[in-house]
Amino acid sequence: MCRYAGELPIVESGAPKFALFEIKAEWLYEVQCDTGIGTQADDVARVWGDFGLIEDQIQHFPCARTRSYMFDDTACRMPHPMADSQTNSLQVDFCGLSLATPIVLLSGCVGFGEEYTRVEGFSNSDVGAVVLKGTTLEPRLGNPPHRVFETPMGMLNAIGLQNPGVDKVVGEILPGLDFTETRFMANVCGSTIEDYAEVTRRFDDSPIDAIEINISCPNIKEGGVQFGNVPAMSARVVAACRAETKKPIITKLSPNQTDIRENARLCIEAGSDGLAVINTMMGMAIDIEKRTPIIGNVQGGLSGPAIKPIALLKVRQVYEVAKLHNVPIIGQGGITSANDAIEFMLAGATTVGIGTALFYEPLACKTINQGLLEYLQRHNMSSVSELIGALQV
Ligand SMILES: Cc1cc2nc3c(=O)[nH]c(=O)nc-3n(C[C@H](O)[C@H](O)[C@H](O)COP(=O)(O)O)c2cc1C
Repeated sequence: MCRYAGELPIVESGAPKFALFEIKAEWLYEVQCDTGIGTQADDVARVWGDFGLIEDQIQHFPCARTRSYMFDDTACRMPHPMADSQTNSLQVDFCGLSLATPIVLLSGCVGFGEEYTRVEGFSNSDVGAVVLKGTTLEPRLGNPPHRVFETPMGMLNAIGLQNPGVDKVVGEILPGLDFTETRFMANVCGSTIEDYAEVTRRFDDSPIDAIEINISCPNIKEGGVQFGNVPAMSARVVAACRAETKKPIITKLSPNQTDIRENARLCIEAGSDGLAVINTMMGMAIDIEKRTPIIGNVQGGLSGPAIKPIALLKVRQVYEVAKLHNVPIIGQGGITSANDAIEFMLAGATTVGIGTALFYEPLACKTINQGLLEYLQRHNMSSVSELIGALQV
């Protein structure tokens, strides 16, 4: 079992190899104590075991923080979805943007957009869009450790929106991104409505393609889900951001509320062009020996396959409202395969978000693209868009 400082199990996954877990624990601690911009879940994912690799598949470089990986994975050899057809059957339109595939890499799971490109065999052009880590007006250090914990079929996280602040993201990170490969979306957070509006205004004056409003973060003390769980407050945040930008706005809805349909309706009326459904669900884990919460923040957000059936239903419920206004949805919550992606699209999602799956299968997007193409062929369909909302009840 993995123990840091002889105390807690941290991120248990894969075969129970002591040496492997020792290294994971050390690196996790390093990540949690580092205040740099890359210290998000994707750094944690770069710990050996989470990629499900064996030692001789990994090439080590001298500096731990620039360690990179060499894969011999069949997924690396799969054709790019655009490569073998003149008309791309995976292309979808989302909030006026043309996306090469319906796959969206989710906020918090790929840092600020360039980290995953270090994975051999992965390219941002494999996905339709990448959502950057949640960004606030001022830099944030995030929550105290422990900030992630693996659960059965899922993961708890309470990163606490660690980020370098909007000016650094706009001034130093965006210029380094390759906008020819994919679409990039910001993820805007704040403690007050004014914060949300100001961060949106600063992203408006940047090359970012769209702005996702995160009113559903369960891991901060002010703002976040406190706005997202009250439909009228959600709408006020959206209206304030709408006033600051003409770029597409996507509102990320909370599953931790009574009536997600009403919330969706009010956000659309306040000017949201798209909806992201769902963010993580609140949960906790307890160390029974110490009788203390394992997550430093006490509670965290649950993601991964554990929440998939709930997310699917929420997408379906929101779609009932969204389709009346032609507002598209990024369906998300536990998607790991092409089958999952198809389920979410049938339920009403236009695009599908991949987050936690990347922690153990960094090339999941390639296999999902491939699986979607095979499904279209098998069902004699010419476009993945035909799946959107096609559920027959
Ligand atoms: C480690 C981690 C960090 C996250 N950080 C953010 C964030 O900064 N902003 C946000 O809107 N969602 C964040 N999320 C939520 C994801 O974007 C996604 O909505 C959620 O994990 C459900 O999808 P999944 O089950 O595929 O991971 C985070 C999730 C994880 C696991």
